[in-house]
Amino acid sequence: MKGVVFVGFFELVEKEFGYEMVDKLIDSCELSTDGAYTSVGTYPHSEMVSLVTKLSEFTELPVPVLLKTYAKYFGKAHLRKYAAFYDNAPDTFAFLESIHDHIHVEVKKLYPDAELPHFSSNRISESTLELVYTSSRKMSDFAEGLIEDTALYYGEHVDIGKKLLEEDGSKVLFTITKK
Ligand code: HEM
Repeated sequence: MKGVVFVGFFELVEKEFGYEMVDKLIDSCELSTDGAYTSVGTYPHSEMVSLVTKLSEFTELPVPVLLKTYAKYFGKAHLRKYAAFYDNAPDTFAFLESIHDHIHVEVKKLYPDAELPHFSSNRISESTLELVYTSSRKMSDFAEGLIEDTALYYGEHVDIGKKLLEEDGSKVLFTITKK
């Protein structure tokens, strides 16, 4: 997993729970670099799982809530700098449809070792888009937060329905409806 995801995570933990919590997490998780992450580095995905699980233990907040909150922070703090991706898409649906064939393709060129999910999309009607998330990293809660963040960016209100297509969370159907 790219370091930028870890860097953003620690920024959010510090902002929401204070620096002591950052310290506590670093002390209690087995991390390859003792918690020293750089944006362009690449680190085991299992470390992100440990960090989020421990944070959930310490804060008594469920992992899905933490991942969604984190995704919304990550969108605002780290994805907006890729302004061209937003400029090229006029609304939430167009942006989400462009992730797989355009955005993550460009990300892969920048960071060949990035581990990205697979998305397929299907426009059901003017107001409904289906998005199928597939990834062995099972981060659909992170995806849901990024979908919410995208709608927020475009000033649109959406309902997000979620259905597991694989019980372990590696394949998830999102049904996104404009309100
Ligand atoms: C400007 C737009 C975006 C950029 C630049 C971007 C870039 C990235 C990067 C750098 C990673 C980390 C890869 C790694 O750790 O190896 C990532 C992961 C991920 N991205 Fe995107 N992303 C964008 C938009 C989105 C949106 C809108 C969604 C959700 C619908 C999304 C879903 C995900 C998920 C769920 C992961 C975690 C890895 C996984 O589940 O396999 N991304 N993205």
